[in-house]
Amino acid sequence: MLTQIDKLLKEVNGFSPDSKEELEAFRLKYLGKKGVLGGLFSDLKGATPQDKKSAGLAINNLKNAVQEKINSHKNTFDKVIKKSNIDTSKPVGLNSFGSRHPISLIKNQIVGVFKKIGFGVSEGPEIEDDWHNFSALNLPKEHPARDMQDTFFIQANPDLLLRTHTSSVQVRHMESVRPPIRTISPGRVYRNEAVSARAHCLFHQIEGLYIDEHVSFADLKQTIMYFAKEMFGEETKIRLRPSFFPFTEPSAEVDIYWGSKNESDYRITKGTGWLEILGCGMVDPNVLENCNIDSKKHSGFAFGMGIERIAMLKYGVTDLRLFFENDVRFLKQFSSL
Ligand code: DAH
Repeated sequence: MLTQIDKLLKEVNGFSPDSKEELEAFRLKYLGKKGVLGGLFSDLKGATPQDKKSAGLAINNLKNAVQEKINSHKNTFDKVIKKSNIDTSKPVGLNSFGSRHPISLIKNQIVGVFKKIGFGVSEGPEIEDDWHNFSALNLPKEHPARDMQDTFFIQANPDLLLRTHTSSVQVRHMESVRPPIRTISPGRVYRNEAVSARAHCLFHQIEGLYIDEHVSFADLKQTIMYFAKEMFGEETKIRLRPSFFPFTEPSAEVDIYWGSKNESDYRITKGTGWLEILGCGMVDPNVLENCNIDSKKHSGFAFGMGIERIAMLKYGVTDLRLFFENDVRFLKQFSSL
């Protein structure tokens, strides 16, 4: 037994681990539950009293040697790890701050443009009733123009729906504020549309409303022109195309010229150079009357635009879905704005 222990002692003394793992394997081999030392101690039980004494001493010696070996190397490995990974003299890194979402950036910018010419901001609920989203806006039940906006209804109450446009806020505002009115209403809207690079089931709009005495189409055109230049630059050209919205008469859609200067992808304007940015018109007298405003005395204009649309143009984003995925790699690019 003594020769066996002697052999083991030599092995222990000659052991020189290269890694923490190797050292751990060594520890388990000798000190583990079914390890070498445990085995030797149980062998000792069957030895003669004389042998017991000398072998006992030798085993203890061996055990101490193992322990020493472990202690000495454990420290060296710990030191190495400390040296390589933790530099306590290194300055603490700066906190990284979040950034505003591009939709908020554009919304704030649009709001700022209209605030400069005296518009205030108004808001309304996203869960809306039929009256404010449709009926008051000259879209009675069964009117075919309701199909222009594919609607999510609230099943528990057929009178409630997720608003399909922020025009609902015009109605709420006119019901509670007397002319003159100058307000813009930003907010989220919902439509039952398949999600693609160009459409989403939720998006954001800004609605504008101006009601006073003697407001004319020229005022509307001038206001839109001012907005387009503030937003896209002094050189921006706009054009108005006749259109139809039940809540305005006459109605128009506004295009800006995006042509050769800004256009890198000709699919954006389908080769025409013109790009639609908003819908607008003179508020239909029926809508004014629905909100208890005397349409003989007052007139006004309204307009509505999609914020994502403007953001895509301003930032050159070609896939609408990026605005809703909140991938930090996308959002980080707006951190300096
Ligand atoms: N509500 C319309 C839409 O979502 C946009 C719009 C068009 C708003 C003309 C208006 C307007 O106020 O006058 O498609």
